[in-house]
Amino acid sequence: MTNQEILNEKLNASRLGGGQSRIDRQHEKGKLTAHERVHLLMDDGSFEEIGALVTHRTSDFGMADQVFPGDGVVTGYGTVDGRLVYVFAQDFTVFGGSLSETHAEKICKVMDMALKVGAPLIGLNDSGGARIQEGVRSLGGYADIFYRNVQASGVIPQLSAIMGPCAGGAVYSPALTDFTIMVEDTSYMFVTGPNVVKTVTNETVTSEELGGASAHSTKSGVTHLTAANDVICIQKLKRLLSYLPQNCEETPAALPYQLGEEVREQLESVVPASANQPYDMRDVIAGVIDESSFLEIQPDYADNIVVGFARIAGRSIGIVANQPMSLAGVLDVNSSKKAARFTRTCDCFNVPLLVLVDVPGFLPGTDQEWNGIITNGAKLLYALSEATVPRVTVITRKAYGGAYDVMNSKHIGADMNFAWPGAEIAVMGAKGASEIIFRNEIKKAADPAAKLAEKEREYADTFANPYRAAQRGFVDEVIYPKDTRRKLIRAFAMLENKVVDRPRRKHGNVPL
Ligand code: HXC
Repeated sequence: MTNQEILNEKLNASRLGGGQSRIDRQHEKGKLTAHERVHLLMDDGSFEEIGALVTHRTSDFGMADQVFPGDGVVTGYGTVDGRLVYVFAQDFTVFGGSLSETHAEKICKVMDMALKVGAPLIGLNDSGGARIQEGVRSLGGYADIFYRNVQASGVIPQLSAIMGPCAGGAVYSPALTDFTIMVEDTSYMFVTGPNVVKTVTNETVTSEELGGASAHSTKSGVTHLTAANDVICIQKLKRLLSYLPQNCEETPAALPYQLGEEVREQLESVVPASANQPYDMRDVIAGVIDESSFLEIQPDYADNIVVGFARIAGRSIGIVANQPMSLAGVLDVNSSKKAARFTRTCDCFNVPLLVLVDVPGFLPGTDQEWNGIITNGAKLLYALSEATVPRVTVITRKAYGGAYDVMNSKHIGADMNFAWPGAEIAVMGAKGASEIIFRNEIKKAADPAAKLAEKEREYADTFANPYRAAQRGFVDEVIYPKDTRRKLIRAFAMLENKVVDRPRRKHGNVPL
C-alpha cells in the first residue's frame, strides 16, 4: 500500500462515523487528527495517554460553557520501534489547537518526564497559537515550554513535526528542538503572518509563500525535512529517530551487520580526471555507507554541502560532505551554518562523524564578507573542534586554504584522516599560487603565459597531491577509493570507545 493510500484509508475510515464536523474539516484539508497521528507514530497498542480529562480553567468570553476533555492536546508515552518515546500532539479540532495555560501544562508534564527518564520527545504541532481568550496565561505557557526545550537540549532528542499552522512566538519551540519537519501544503511557520507583513512592509504574500514547507526548506533553512503528507511525515520522524540514541549518555543502537566483501570498485571512477569537473558527492556517500541508509538533512538548503545520517556496518554515523556539484563545493555562510548545526547535533548525541572533503576554499565577495562569512565560517570550525565523537576524514580531491583546516583536519582534532591519491592539499590552487609567488619571474619572461603555465605545473607537481601532508602525518594514509568503505568500517570500530576530557568551563562561547 502506498503512503497516499494509507492516508486515504485513514481519512475515509474516520468519515464513516458521521456527525463529526470538526474532524471532517481536518480531514478535508488532508490532515489526520491528533489521535490518528499519535497512533500512526507509536507501536500498535503501546500508547498511554496522560491527562485526557484535563480541561481549561477559563471563564472569560463564555469559555466556561466550552469545555473539552484534553483541552486541545493529546499527551502521553509509548514505544516507537520498541523504544520509549514521549509525545504531544495538538488537536486542531479543539479551539484550533490553540495553547491555553492547561494545554501548556500538559505539554510541560511530558517534557519533564522525558527529561527525567531520558527518552526522546516528539511534538506534533498543529495550532492557531496562543489561546486568545486566555491572554498572558497562554504566553506564559509558551515560555514554560521554551524553557524546558532549552533544559532538554543536548540531553534528549527533541523532534518537531509541523502539521498545520504554527505562527507567532509558537515557532520558537520547534526552533529550539533538534529537528523540524514540515508537511507540504498544510503547514506553515512564521513569526508574523501575511496581514502584518502587508501592514508593516507593504509586501503582498500568501501564508504558503511566506512560511510554507517550500520556503523553509529552500530559503530559510528553518525546516530540516519536508513530507508530502501526514503519513510520510510520521514515517520520516521514525526514521530520523532510528539514528539517534535515547539520550546523551547512550550511543545510537547499531543494526546487526555481517562483514563481507567491502571493496567498492565503483568509487574508483567517481572523481573526474579534470580537477575542475564537478561530480556528485552523494555517489561517494553511496559507495561507503550501508545500502540505502542515507537520510539527507536539509537537502534543498545550501546544497554546496551535504549533511545527513547513514549507517556504516550497522553503526549510525553523521556525514558532512562538500558537494562539488554546487558552487564547486565552496564553504559559504549558509553551508557553514548548516554543517555546524548538524555537527553539533551529532556530537550531542554520540553520533560519530564522517567528513568528506572536496573544497576549493571559502566563497569570496562582498556579499559573503558583509553577511559574516568570518563569524559563520567560525561556527563550523568551532563545532568540529569541540566535537568529541569519533571523527574520520576522507579528502577525495581538493582541500585548499583555510577550508582544509576547517573540514575536520588532524589539527582540529580529527582521529583518522585519509586521502585519495588524487587529493590536492595546498594553500590555494596552482594558478593563483603561481601568479603570486612567481609574479616577477613571469613578468620578466619573454612569454609570460608560457612561464605561468610552467610555474603552475611546478607548483601542482609539488603540492597537488596528498603526499606532503602524509609525510607530516597530517594525513594518516593515502588509500585507493575502492578501499574507503573497508578503511572506514575499521576506523570507526577502532574509535568506538574514544574518550575525550575537555577543560572545565561553564560552556564554550560558540560564535553565534
Ligand atoms: C482561540 C482559536 C485560535 C486561537 C483558532 N481558533 N485560533 N481559538 N485562540 N489562537 C479557533 C477558531 O476560532 C475556530 O473556532 C477554530 O479554532 C478553527 O479555526 P478556523 O479559523 O476556523 O480555522 P482555519 O480557517 O483553518 O484557520 C486557522 C488559523 C486561524 C489560520 C490558525 O484560526 C487564525 O488565524 N487563528 C488566529 C491565529 C493567531 O493570531 N493566533 C495568535 C498568534 S500570537 P470555531 O469555534 O469557530 O470552530 C501567538 C503568540 C505566541 O501565538 C507567543 C508565544 C511567545
